[in-house]
Amino acid sequence: HAHLLGIEGLHPLDITHILDLADRYADATRAGQRADPVLTGRTVVNLFFENSTRTMSSFEIAAKRLGADVINMPVANSSVKKGETLIDTAMTLNAMKPDVLVIRHSASGGAKLLSRKVDCAVINAGDGTHEHPTQGLLDVLTIRRNKGRVEGLKVVICGDIAHSRVARSTTMALHLLGAEVHLCGPKTLLPPGTDTWGAASATTDFDAALKGADVVMMLRLQMERMDGAFLPSRREYFRYFGLTQERLALALPDATVMHPGPMNRGIEIESAIADGPRSVITEQVEMGVAVREAVLDLLAGTRP
Ligand code: CP
Repeated sequence: HAHLLGIEGLHPLDITHILDLADRYADATRAGQRADPVLTGRTVVNLFFENSTRTMSSFEIAAKRLGADVINMPVANSSVKKGETLIDTAMTLNAMKPDVLVIRHSASGGAKLLSRKVDCAVINAGDGTHEHPTQGLLDVLTIRRNKGRVEGLKVVICGDIAHSRVARSTTMALHLLGAEVHLCGPKTLLPPGTDTWGAASATTDFDAALKGADVVMMLRLQMERMDGAFLPSRREYFRYFGLTQERLALALPDATVMHPGPMNRGIEIESAIADGPRSVITEQVEMGVAVREAVLDLLAGTRP
């Protein structure tokens, strides 16, 4: 079976192919058209070991729009609470013969491990601090639709880069399509080696990074992954890394503002910007469904 475990390893043409199909799904939904039921008779299992608002519901909606049967396993209610391991849970579900397993897990590499054990397509919906490929794809699709291109754009991603699977997947996808990605955050939250993701720079100077930016993407502080590591106060963080109207004025006049969610208003982004005319945050959610329709179609669809 083919899987989608990460952006790493994809060719730019693979990404363009997925985005082109997602574009068609997004346009059809906007036009009120029903999608072809290319997943009729297929079973999609959503196996989420970590919380999710957007990703789980959009995989469910995408799969249902294409005619699949969908089962959601929010693991809080499952036998994992009784001590069953990831692999035993996966083998149990595998025995029920699903066609696609969508997995979110706190362990980096969790989706890959699962893909080696089961007889169906596996989609990584976020593995620890490693990758969140459908988020990377929906971010690039949102940018491509708003800017008309990806190549040559300056994109700034600011926040908790160290714990962000979104930062890695989105940076890789943007780099593969020719964008220039600058990462920004407090020194303690900027991991080494972001050049291997394709990032052009990693800096603590948000104001300098913003100059000439076409796109500004803000990330939340992932407190749940910090293990008591040193953190600035919220007020101090906002002062240096919060996106305010004043700061946004340093970017290009038509700069697009993004956030993968969940947002912490007043910590990494001013509410007026999140809800303002430059924000495409809700469009990201909309494109999330379209990208997941495209990925499900390509991995498990009945199209010839
Ligand atoms: N962007 C994202 O992955 O959101 P959820 O955690 O709500 O799925």
